[in-house]
Amino acid sequence: VVPFHGHHQAGVTSSPGAFVTYLSLTLRETTDAEALRRWLRVLTDDAARLTQGGRALADLEPELVARPAGLTVTFGFGRALVERAGATAPAWLEPLPAFSIDRLEDRYSGADLLLIVHGDDQTVVTHTARMLLRDSRSFATLKWRQTGFRRAHGTDPSGTTFRNPFGQLDGTTNAKLGTADFDATVWARPDAPAWLAGGTGFVLRRIEMDMDGWDKVGRDGRGNVIGRHVDTGAPLTGGTEHSEPDFDATTRLGFPVINDVAHIRRARETDPANSIVRMAFAYDDAVDPGAVPGDDGLEVISNTGLLFGSWQADVTAQFVPMQARLAEADFLNTWTTPVGSTVVAVPPGCVEGGFIGEGLFA
Ligand code: HEM
Repeated sequence: VVPFHGHHQAGVTSSPGAFVTYLSLTLRETTDAEALRRWLRVLTDDAARLTQGGRALADLEPELVARPAGLTVTFGFGRALVERAGATAPAWLEPLPAFSIDRLEDRYSGADLLLIVHGDDQTVVTHTARMLLRDSRSFATLKWRQTGFRRAHGTDPSGTTFRNPFGQLDGTTNAKLGTADFDATVWARPDAPAWLAGGTGFVLRRIEMDMDGWDKVGRDGRGNVIGRHVDTGAPLTGGTEHSEPDFDATTRLGFPVINDVAHIRRARETDPANSIVRMAFAYDDAVDPGAVPGDDGLEVISNTGLLFGSWQADVTAQFVPMQARLAEADFLNTWTTPVGSTVVAVPPGCVEGGFIGEGLFA
């Protein structure tokens, strides 16, 4: 059981579960500030009960969550919701600027309210998502739902880095919970609106991975794309997974050991205040009807990629410059395509009897 109440929302301060369901809700025209407050109260009550293995109001199947298996529910607000409440949104709460690599689709992008439900058991996650949607009906409509997964709980020793669908260890260089770097990267700064204190910003990018294209890349090539060995995750300049890469090292012929456009060289940001904390899940969905074969003419058999999430205090100052650098040059772009993009403000947690987002109405 992950405690629900607290200064921060529990989904930001707990490690990602094995399964995630993202729900994007669009406010109904009729949902005014007073209705919005009621809705957030109801959803908070649901989340507070379900995450503790309890029964949501009028839940006829409470047995489904009796063992919550690390369940958390995290709320993220889009600009429309903040403004509907009559509050001021942070300047960065906008769709990201367009990047040349983007092929964004509306069916995967944007949210007035984003609910992030993750935990180690799909039955619990599914029931929770249904309860939250059921109680949202009169206030909002479901725009999209995206689901993802990581290794099943217990499969790897705790603390093992996640492997993404390309087989890469993904999340090695990521500030750990409870460290000063994590805090400096994630929590809203003093210049943020008061209702966001103790909260953060969240970006969700749905990034398609070209599995067939990747099949054509050998093991060494794969290492060069990232700048790390695929098996151990160690930098190409040696050591083990958590050794520091040496970006100045050159081969005997004078070429950089870590390619100029290797993903880790282009993504690197050493100042925590300009960095992001990543939370990736894989997705593997049914192939879209009508998916068109690539140049090789092979039938399309994968609709696979990353639900790339990142926490940062200020999306414009932290996420955007990094993504812009990667859009300009990153070896990985050959095999990856962003197809969805959502930015939300994640308010702080609440105490018992309070509700998530109450600061909006102060
Ligand atoms: C499908 C898309 C992506 C894949 C497969 C991917 C994969 C990886 C891998 C394998 C690593 C090395 C291990 C690690 O430190 O985690 C890495 C590092 C990193 N990635 Fe990505 N990544 C993707 C997209 C992105 C995006 C969109 C961003 C940010 C806008 C990003 C930012 C970073 C950062 C900051 C690092 C750490 C770099 C360092 O300091 O060593 N990645 N990624």
